[in-house]
Amino acid sequence: MGSDPKARVFSTGASSGSWTGVTEIKASGVAPAFAESASSPSAVPVVKTAPRRKPSTPNHKKAQPSRARIIAVGGGKGGVGKSLVTTSLGISLAQHGKRVVVIDADLGGANLHTCLGLPTPETTLSDFIARRVESIEDVVLETGVRNLGLISGAHDHLTASNLKYFQKARLLSRIATVDADYILLDIGAGISFNIVDFFLISEQGILVVIPEPSSIENAYRFLKMSFFRHLWRGLKASPARKVVEQAMDQKNNQGIRTPFDLLEAVEHLDASTGRYLKELALAFRPRLLINQSRYPEDERLGGSMAMVCRRHLGIDVEAIGTIPFDDSVWKANRKRRPFMLDSPESTAGRALENVARSLLTPSTYPRLAEKR
Ligand SMILES: Nc1ncnc2c1ncn2[C@@H]1O[C@H](COP(=O)(O)OP(=O)(O)O)[C@@H](O)[C@H]1O
Ligand SMILES: [Mg+2]
Repeated sequence: MGSDPKARVFSTGASSGSWTGVTEIKASGVAPAFAESASSPSAVPVVKTAPRRKPSTPNHKKAQPSRARIIAVGGGKGGVGKSLVTTSLGISLAQHGKRVVVIDADLGGANLHTCLGLPTPETTLSDFIARRVESIEDVVLETGVRNLGLISGAHDHLTASNLKYFQKARLLSRIATVDADYILLDIGAGISFNIVDFFLISEQGILVVIPEPSSIENAYRFLKMSFFRHLWRGLKASPARKVVEQAMDQKNNQGIRTPFDLLEAVEHLDASTGRYLKELALAFRPRLLINQSRYPEDERLGGSMAMVCRRHLGIDVEAIGTIPFDDSVWKANRKRRPFMLDSPESTAGRALENVARSLLTPSTYPRLAEKR
């Protein structure tokens, strides 16, 4: 396998138990970004080499969905920690020996490479979207962290709002073909359909929320929009789709304000579609991750938001943890080092590691496709 390009990103036999995750740095060509000696801002190595592209392999077969677990990391708001969470979980899972690819789908605000301590990559998602490369595997970059690949975000005029429908559909279907155990997707802020569709790439995305009214409010709106959109997509050609469309307009005159109202309206229209819709609703299992907590009461935010979602929105949300606000995050940022390599033993580092461990256990909620 030594000559297999994939082996460089996903080399096996990494389980030395070491937490540094930097053993392959020299081979990757992006090593200085992770040099262990960079313990102070003044020691930051200047990295001029852009991350190296994994050489493409001829792909004669039609790309098939891989068995990867896909987890989108969203949050209606910017600045809440989506990129920190995506890269940190990616690094942790890679250190547990999983083959991980993190994808910067924050079109218009791509910065995952920075969180990984890498200079601006030359090869990005734009190359795939604009068909300058054939396969999505051609834009997977080495990160210098064993088992962890990166698909960097676009650095041009491409934003979620100007992504055309067919471009989005192609991108979403190809992401599922990336060969990995885990694919983590960092999605942008906002609640437009384009953003929500990335979140719905799997039914168990992680919503990052900070204990601030605007973030909490955004998260509820995001969840409600995602839920309606999930149902709408599941209904395909059914006439009940119209009812979901009406529900998405919060000022609709049908009196549909909550998902409960919607399920009732559809059941009234057609009992069997109503039952199917309930089944679809059960498969939607987003997870909440509270970030930047500062006070003991913040620890309870995830649980209480999950309760509100269940009671008032009829959405079964699982609170999966609380990450404290931690100065070591910006310290790592200043050193241009990935947080989980710089401060794994900090309070935030340990909390993120716990979340990563919880992702290692297989989900008890099968995806719809597997259930049917
Ligand atoms: N738990 C935390 N403790 C301290 N700073 C944090 C924490 N989480 C995120 N930050 C900081 O907040 C800022 C926004 O984080 P980022 O991951 O870029 O957010 P997003 O991707 O949601 O826009 C960054 O400067 C990051 O270092
Ligand atoms: Mg970000």
